[in-house]
Amino acid sequence: MKKITVFSPASVANVGPGFDVMGFALSSVGDTLTAEMSSEQGVRIRKITGDDGKLPKDVDKNTASIGATSVMEKLGIEGGMEITLNKGLRLNSGLGSSGASAVAGAFAAMKLFAPEKEKGFVLEDCVKAEAAVSGNHADNVAPSLFGGFVIIRSYEPLDIIRLKSPTKLFATVVTPDYEVSTKEARAILPSSVPMKSLVHNTGNVAALVAGIAMNDCAIIGRSISDSIIEPVRAKLIPGYASVKKAAMDSGALGCAIAGSGPSMFAFSDSGKKAIEISNAMAKAFEREGLSSDKLVSKVNGEGAKVIGK
Ligand code: HSE
Repeated sequence: MKKITVFSPASVANVGPGFDVMGFALSSVGDTLTAEMSSEQGVRIRKITGDDGKLPKDVDKNTASIGATSVMEKLGIEGGMEITLNKGLRLNSGLGSSGASAVAGAFAAMKLFAPEKEKGFVLEDCVKAEAAVSGNHADNVAPSLFGGFVIIRSYEPLDIIRLKSPTKLFATVVTPDYEVSTKEARAILPSSVPMKSLVHNTGNVAALVAGIAMNDCAIIGRSISDSIIEPVRAKLIPGYASVKKAAMDSGALGCAIAGSGPSMFAFSDSGKKAIEISNAMAKAFEREGLSSDKLVSKVNGEGAKVIGK
């Protein structure tokens, strides 16, 4: 095989209380990447579309090429690979854009040069690529790669646990036309945490995992509560409080910032409610003068996949 096209989905990191340790993958939105073998050594980016010309084509700066290079070096590949990347999600939106590209590049390299390997083979390469641009966290790349809900139990060594999503669970994601840089949203976080907040978040993240495992959407919903990170980041998002209120008033089970924002997500237990919630959240952003993209999605259980050869 000389050429492969892969899809890598967007993701929602943190899932409320699980800063850097929980995430889930979304359906239908994400990056599409075509990789082609070449005789010239190393990775090159041939073309990027869907990014309004914002992403670097420098292979050392783009997460797709960093991820691909890392996999090829690990495999000791002598040849090269040319990448065409189509961004299907906005940059700096909180939906794991750089992570989706990292996964697309690493996964495509694996499928091209070592198709017999399992996805776990490239996880560290994806984390490394994401760390190069937005900090060391796996809660976007792991769900993009594997799909479903993912728990990062440990970073050193990297140990992740996957959970299937309850089938009734719907995610609403609303992305305002506004950018928040993950690097900056991490830089403002406190370096220590009051004991009371730790107890609050630990209880909620434990209950969130229990709710997923028990297929209980109500427990999942009331566990979307973070007293450490979200109160600090709320000020980065115009209309944060009114968007959250709009979601909850329209029947959401829980609502929080998606990743480092500015997207916000809400959970519900029906597709109809999920759409109503998306309209209410978008209206709240509109009152702040911001237009937004709305998305209703089940949790994507599949993660990165090959879509063409
Ligand atoms: N856990 C990371 C953060 C995700 O909140 O900074 C970034 O999308």
